[in-house]
Amino acid sequence: MSIHKVKFCEGVPHRPAVEIPAYCRPEAAAAARRYHQDLPGYEPTPLHCLPGLAQVAKVGRVVVKDEALRFNLNAFKVLGASYAIARLLAQQLQLDGDQLNWEQLASLTKERLGQITLVTATDGNHGRAVAWAAEQLGQRAVVYLPQGAAPSRIEAIAGHGAEVIVTDSNYDDAVRLAAAQAAANGWFLVQDTAVPGYEDIPAWIMQGYTTIAAESWEQMQVLGLRPTHIFLQAGVGSLAASQVGYWQGQLAEHPPKFVVMEPEQAACFYLSAKQKDGQPHAVGGNLETIMAGLSCGEPNPLAWPLLRDYTTAFASCPDYVAAYGMRIFGNPWAGGERITAGESGAVGAGLLALLAQPTYQAWRQRLGLTQDSVVLLINSEGATDPVNYQAIVWDGKYPLTE
Ligand SMILES: Cc1ncc(COP(=O)(O)O)c(C=O)c1O
Repeated sequence: MSIHKVKFCEGVPHRPAVEIPAYCRPEAAAAARRYHQDLPGYEPTPLHCLPGLAQVAKVGRVVVKDEALRFNLNAFKVLGASYAIARLLAQQLQLDGDQLNWEQLASLTKERLGQITLVTATDGNHGRAVAWAAEQLGQRAVVYLPQGAAPSRIEAIAGHGAEVIVTDSNYDDAVRLAAAQAAANGWFLVQDTAVPGYEDIPAWIMQGYTTIAAESWEQMQVLGLRPTHIFLQAGVGSLAASQVGYWQGQLAEHPPKFVVMEPEQAACFYLSAKQKDGQPHAVGGNLETIMAGLSCGEPNPLAWPLLRDYTTAFASCPDYVAAYGMRIFGNPWAGGERITAGESGAVGAGLLALLAQPTYQAWRQRLGLTQDSVVLLINSEGATDPVNYQAIVWDGKYPLTE
């Protein structure tokens, strides 16, 4: 049996590094958070300590921001979608986006714009978030999914009243289809990746994600901790870049080291770093991986410069790394909290544990991981595909092969 290992590539930053854009700086995070606090059911998600994983990984502390609990939606994505939709509607209504709350927007939208349609393409979680936001606003959503989407993810979106269309293409082609449908029908496209001329909404989505970092920082300060390393999973890279932007702004004097993780079949940031030409590069094909949320072959052009200039290492991860992480999160010891993590949420736990193994000693050293390190992970989703969750966590599917 051929054994794929995790492949790493060192960051190749441009100097001077790109400036942190205004929309993911701590001041912008405060504005986004005000919106989120107005949403029905807002609560900060918990930050858990995992002493057992810290021991195995030979680091000082491991803390995990558990986004599976965000608004009971099983993923972090609503932070971006809800904020971007609010800003979009405020713009349409020619109102000051920062002064409005969600309820006012819902009623003013109905009153002045009538029935609108929000459209997006998604691997699952972003589509559910757009569908949820449309439901809260009393508006319509149309959501395109790539081929092979898990039935549970389709049902979760349809459960919020959205029209769901499963395409016969990969994620990146579904994104193009959604954009074409928006243009043809006069719908509002709410997409989390930019193309030239379509940058406001992806930037607002990234701004919305900064709430994760802002809450984490508050929670870590209460524990007397400062992150030395942050492991970030990437699909189009909006989540990872938003966190990099926030933390670089917040801890400018002593920024943490960032590790960006992708599935090996969709490792476009890893590939872009490897090319060493400073440009983003795409990966094609069917992008097959159990990490459905990370199954994106084209980097968000807004995310790339930030990840290029501030990432210490890019990791291309076989599926068993995510499966390993799901079992680690689901079975803590030494007093750690049990975390239900889906495939895209768990890859950081798997990678951190693997980095303690002899094979990866050189990379452990390059990353500066020691007994004093404080590692922040984000569990970005719960068990969004319960059938696969059970197959992995109970039946041992995708075993560790190294
Ligand atoms: C659970 C989960 N984690 C991480 C990501 C990655 O986010 P991004 O596409 O912004 O890189 C996604 C994206 O869909 C996701 O669903």
